[in-house]
Amino acid sequence: MAEIYAIPARVQEGGQQPISTMGAWLEARHRWRNDPSAFWLNITQSTIAWSTEPTVGLNGDYYSVKETPFSWFEDGQLNITESCLDRHVETQPNKTAIIWEGDEPGDVRKISYRDLHGSVCQAANCLSSMGVKSGDRVIIYMGMVPEAAVAMLACARIGAVHSVVFGGFSADALRDRIEDCGASVVITQDEGLRGGRRIPLKATTDDAVSGDSPVSKVLVYQRTKADIGWTEGRDVWWHEAVEASAPVCEATIVPAEHPLFILYTSGSTGRPKGVLHTCGGYITYTSYTHRTVFDLRDDDVYACVADVGWITGHSYIVYGPLANGATTLMFESTPLYPDAGRYWDMVERHKITIFYTAPTAIRALAAHGSDPVRKYDRTSLRVLGTVGEPINPDAWTWYHEVVGEGRCTIVDTWWQTETGGICITPIAPVTPPKPGSATLPLPGIEPVLVDPETQTEIRGPGQGHLCLGYPWPGQARTVYGDHARYISTYFSAYDGLYFTGDGCRRDADGYHWITGRIDDVLNVSGHRMGTAEFEAALVSNNAVAEAAVVGYPHPLKGQGVYAYIVLQDEAMATIEADLNGTVRTAIGAHARVDLFQIVPGLPKTRSGKVMRRILRKVAEGESDKLGDVSTLADPSVVEAIIAGAQT
Ligand code: PRX
Repeated sequence: MAEIYAIPARVQEGGQQPISTMGAWLEARHRWRNDPSAFWLNITQSTIAWSTEPTVGLNGDYYSVKETPFSWFEDGQLNITESCLDRHVETQPNKTAIIWEGDEPGDVRKISYRDLHGSVCQAANCLSSMGVKSGDRVIIYMGMVPEAAVAMLACARIGAVHSVVFGGFSADALRDRIEDCGASVVITQDEGLRGGRRIPLKATTDDAVSGDSPVSKVLVYQRTKADIGWTEGRDVWWHEAVEASAPVCEATIVPAEHPLFILYTSGSTGRPKGVLHTCGGYITYTSYTHRTVFDLRDDDVYACVADVGWITGHSYIVYGPLANGATTLMFESTPLYPDAGRYWDMVERHKITIFYTAPTAIRALAAHGSDPVRKYDRTSLRVLGTVGEPINPDAWTWYHEVVGEGRCTIVDTWWQTETGGICITPIAPVTPPKPGSATLPLPGIEPVLVDPETQTEIRGPGQGHLCLGYPWPGQARTVYGDHARYISTYFSAYDGLYFTGDGCRRDADGYHWITGRIDDVLNVSGHRMGTAEFEAALVSNNAVAEAAVVGYPHPLKGQGVYAYIVLQDEAMATIEADLNGTVRTAIGAHARVDLFQIVPGLPKTRSGKVMRRILRKVAEGESDKLGDVSTLADPSVVEAIIAGAQT
């Protein structure tokens, strides 16, 4: 295989050497520090198929961003699908690009680079025939089928901007996203399949686009052949329209800073934000991090079992791996279907070499013991990754000892929707690990810990707010349609720094230990959710006068959702199912309150601000550590809250 690997020859000639020792890591960091623009230009020129090669690296900084987004490679032109598809079709047309493992074990499709290229061209032509033009927004609301990746790449092929909405979101949440980005087309499927359950994607889409909607066409992939509603003139079958389209579609060449996609993510206040990523920088960063962090080799079978509805699916199922000409697996099911051996059964059958999952899945599987793992041959595995939340040392050790038989490298990768790709991580197999630590920054990333009290940088060991000190190519450029929100969220807390929203401790070896969110964002089973979204949903229920939602430690989910409810009418005591129904309608099936506490009132200051610190402490079982409550308007509320605590 080695001779047909598709990264251009210049890479092997020294354009971008793999990092194979800690010395090489240090050398790369020095090289980056000396000249960040030259560092990234060298990487992008040697690894990305540009139509016009860029000569400019970074333009702008964390001060000028307040007026204008910074840019990377701004004089370059490209279409990122040429990096993900065309060049591989020339050099390795028959290599498997996507292995798809369906909901039922053994329901497998293998799609070569040649076939993937053909399907993407057909879908791109189909979208064009529906009137989609460069810059137009397209919503993708699908399950984990290869056609979801085809749809993403088809948008990119014609310069359209996709926004993938996770298939668990409700009609209300889907409608909000459609309206926010003004999408004219939704691509969906009749139903999704997950763990033997059917997910009514088309019916939910019908709800979301009913009434006044910018959507004029709905393209429907047929997965289960379920009976679905059909609106003539608006709805179009994928297997009719896409498969009848021409398999050749010239790529639309766009400037490096042309938008590639919008992905909605939860913040501490208000509605989810449409984080915007752009073409040249994003593809450079995802391909660089994918091959560097995982020590990617030509014959790897790489499996990331995330969902394309989240950033991990974008960067490390679709864009990074395909840009690197890798074989990437898409998994439709769940880790427990039909049983706790499912991942390892897949590892044995597909001879997976790199496996990337979330701590929540590892904890759930560890609870089933090691027998379901040991039943299967895992000798193919070389690198094991985790992402999405802090991994507790017990889960790390189980992953390392039981799954990896003590011989695989574990990479605990810290990053965010906004960072586009991995930022703080071990490099396999170079960085000496410490269980529970995301370890060290990649070259090109500058973690800065800030003491929130003194607003000064903590140098050396210490604990504070995690910021990043210098732009990198994969960083989000703005919040779609609301640059002011981008600035207030990320660049207002600390001047000249990108504020991540995470807390972090740095030890004496310079290793980073993420302590979790320090804002009102929850991380439940690796899903990022805003307390404000839960609260808005809960108060929309007529029974609720006021609601405050906080997180609490949960052994399997990482964090659970704890809701304090002030009822309109105190006679109503058992409304939990009803309230969770309201949450499901407003957000989706993946959002659920774990613990409810009916309270007589919320602890408020005299100016009416809810003191969330108190609510957090009670939910965390630390009622004895409430601190100063003297500024409360009515301190007796706190006693009632402590008396009724659910944890
Ligand atoms: O709190 C951090 C946590 O997940 C947040 C980002 O969530 P999201 O944008 O949904 O992206 C998840 C996938 C990249 C971060 O602010 N997080 C992510 N990875 C880690 C982590 N916390 C600790 N360790 C990690 N490896």
